[in-house]
Amino acid sequence: MRREGTESPESMLNVALPKGRLGEKVYQLFAEAGFECPAVLENSRKLIFENPEAGVRYFWVKPSDVAIYVARGAADIGVAGKDILLEYRPDVYELMDLGIGKCRMAVAAPVGFEEDGARTLRVATKFSRIARDYYAGMGRDIDIIHLNGSIEIAPILGLSDVIVDIVETGTTLRENHLEVRETIVPISTRLIANKSGFKFKRAAVERLMKGLGGQNG
Ligand code: PRP
Repeated sequence: MRREGTESPESMLNVALPKGRLGEKVYQLFAEAGFECPAVLENSRKLIFENPEAGVRYFWVKPSDVAIYVARGAADIGVAGKDILLEYRPDVYELMDLGIGKCRMAVAAPVGFEEDGARTLRVATKFSRIARDYYAGMGRDIDIIHLNGSIEIAPILGLSDVIVDIVETGTTLRENHLEVRETIVPISTRLIANKSGFKFKRAAVERLMKGLGGQNG
């Protein structure tokens, strides 16, 4: 039986955290904002943790899946990179920029690559929609080669002319003799919410946002 004054999982704020270093940083920010659940950082294989006193339940999911949990209401809120939001356009509210996980989406090519504007440009990427939208905006004919990782080797092996990918420190590009040609969009981590979860748990979400330093709390 639950102690008086504690909450059931349905009334708690359900938070999908991206597994990994970024997720741990996000948890620290949420904990400082009043949504503590110290067990989250225990080094175990457990994936769900709750602190009924603080009214919060956390679960670890694959970073690219966070928006799916939130869009379908399995989580009330979560955090996702702007890259994921632009690529998959999940039906969620984007509530605030957490100012972490900063990087950019860019076009990169082998150093010295000269583009032939008369030919269809072959673009390797994990972010097909972002790449398609970007080149469509310029009226440039492209052929998308969708890959799932290690995008940088595509132009080296002649699979593509350029890549569209995330650049953070630039180390991966440098070490593979590639360089940024154009920045498509700056990326950072966003707080997202399920649309009906936001309505029903608005007070808790706004308390969190206020604790995080947001304007709407
Ligand atoms: C991302 C991205 C680049 C790298 C950029 O890869 O796709 O490869 O990070 O970071 P840098 O500019 O600091 O070198 P990720 O580690 O997510 O793996 P991936 O190969 O699956 O894309």
